[in-house]
Amino acid sequence: KPGNGGTKGKLDFKPIPPNTLDSFVVPNGYDHSVVIKWGDEVVPGAPRFDLAKQTGKAQSKQFGYNNDFVGVIPLGRGGDKALLVVNHEYTNENLMFPGFTTLDALSTEQIKVAMAAHGLSVVEIERVDETGEWVVVDRGRRAYNRRITASETAFQFTGPATGSAWLRTAADPRGTTPIGTLNNCAGGVTPWGTVLSGEENFNQYFVGGDAVPAELKPRYARYGISTTARYPSDSRKWDRVQERFDLAKHPNEANRFGWIVEVDPFDPESKPRKHTALGRFKHEGANVIVAKNGKVVAYMGDDERFDYLYKFVSDKKYIAGDSSYARKNNLSLLESGTLYVAKLSYTSAAEIDGTGKLPSDGAFNGTGKWIKLVSGNKSFVDGMTAADVLVFTRLAGDKVGATKMDRPEDVQPSLVTGKIYAAMTNNTNRGVGTNAAADEANPRNANKHGHIFEITEDRGDHTSESFSWALPIVCGDPADSATYFSGYDKTKVSPISCPDNVAFDSTGNLWISTDGNALGGNDGLFATPIEGPEKGHLKQFLTVPRGAETCGPFITEDDRSVFVAVQHPGELTGASVENPASNWPDGDIAKPGVVVTWRRDGGFIGA
Ligand code: FEO
Ligand code: CA
Ligand code: CA
Ligand code: CA
Repeated sequence: KPGNGGTKGKLDFKPIPPNTLDSFVVPNGYDHSVVIKWGDEVVPGAPRFDLAKQTGKAQSKQFGYNNDFVGVIPLGRGGDKALLVVNHEYTNENLMFPGFTTLDALSTEQIKVAMAAHGLSVVEIERVDETGEWVVVDRGRRAYNRRITASETAFQFTGPATGSAWLRTAADPRGTTPIGTLNNCAGGVTPWGTVLSGEENFNQYFVGGDAVPAELKPRYARYGISTTARYPSDSRKWDRVQERFDLAKHPNEANRFGWIVEVDPFDPESKPRKHTALGRFKHEGANVIVAKNGKVVAYMGDDERFDYLYKFVSDKKYIAGDSSYARKNNLSLLESGTLYVAKLSYTSAAEIDGTGKLPSDGAFNGTGKWIKLVSGNKSFVDGMTAADVLVFTRLAGDKVGATKMDRPEDVQPSLVTGKIYAAMTNNTNRGVGTNAAADEANPRNANKHGHIFEITEDRGDHTSESFSWALPIVCGDPADSATYFSGYDKTKVSPISCPDNVAFDSTGNLWISTDGNALGGNDGLFATPIEGPEKGHLKQFLTVPRGAETCGPFITEDDRSVFVAVQHPGELTGASVENPASNWPDGDIAKPGVVVTWRRDGGFIGA
């Protein structure tokens, strides 16, 4: 029964130690279960998963691969039904297909499976009795269930770049209707119940970049598309199945990816949208907060070494409630507004030596400006039109001198304090060779372990063009002097490396999941108070199996359930279906899956 255990908001759980187990580990007193995993039925009537006979058609109805973002959106008012919305970022063909040798040797059917295993899933789930456990609803009651794929699903562009010359292709001469979504990484649930999803490393899916017009090559190269070789070394060669992935023939196709996607899970027939007003880069995700004046503000990171932090402020205002008038208004909020990039100033710049030593004023901190790039059809960047700025946003950020960060991943505002938290996952190139050296916001050269960046908007106004910032956590082994946990007693802090996604419980504790733990243990999920005397008391809440990263996370509004996505279990060098590095979750081949964790006594998570 709920309500027995713990004080809401307290993080009194006993942290779990670092480990390298091939299992999902939770603290004493907690339980967990797999909600859904790769190959499970999503669309009613999906064939049962068959490792030996996978088809693109079957996969397009089954749960995709490499689940990343997890959103749990209440369905109805009872609190016991919800829509689970999940991103499927990429595929590990060597762990998916028996007998895998090289990407080159994949059959066209296997490529179709991989394409259909990308995208998103919408799955109706329900709570088990009154516990914190959730399961997929019975067959026959899955009216909302939906798969969105890289290969088939039609999208709609919105915003100022829609129809611009950059987005037109032979198949879509009006530049309005891209097909599919790629490399969907993190995301966010909007206040109006939709999901935003970031198209991240879309560059890797294209070939023929060597043959794009010469004047375009620097732009494409800035987005990581190879412009020197027809086939980059790790190419998936999807052009074998869909010619549009060949930039020699369809140079603009790449411009149709790298956007923030909005999906309305309550309308399975709706066409998902790509919002050009939010710019194009390697979008990690986007999280929205309603500003005091009613406009909505989306915070976003561009996950690349030395790339930037962005925010978008809508023109129109949010309308509360779920009337059709409010819904229609809110669904249009991300279609027009102003896009900004962050430029920082530093308090103790002269004291930063790249070792991570805390400045003498006791904090890594400073101020910053949101530099306006484009507002509607008006560009604020010299030599670039509004469409140029929106389609080649990285170049606009370069021109205005935005601050180069250590790989901005998930960026999310706390609904409790209004402060914004961003995971800078790592940047081993910081200060190496001719690369930018450490600064106060990215204070370690060869930054292996990453840090957390906190933004406080001036006057608490999310539409403000100026802010202050600080680093509450500089990650690593707390025994390492180049780490910082807001001054908290480091002997009580769990080691953490490579923060990727952030989330909050209802009281505003910060939950951080990791990807690529450079301390050697498995990745996991951590929680820390971010205000008050316990600020910086970071503790490890769970770990995921060998080779996996921890994605999601999502804590339900009642603080009874924490969802995480176990992404790429068994992704270790040399692993294959025949020689797996993980057997999670079935004891069979490794399968990415979404897991829910809850307290056995029904109490509050973490308390
Ligand atoms: Fe897909 Fe930035 O992690
Ligand atoms: Ca990520
Ligand atoms: Ca998040
Ligand atoms: Ca990552």
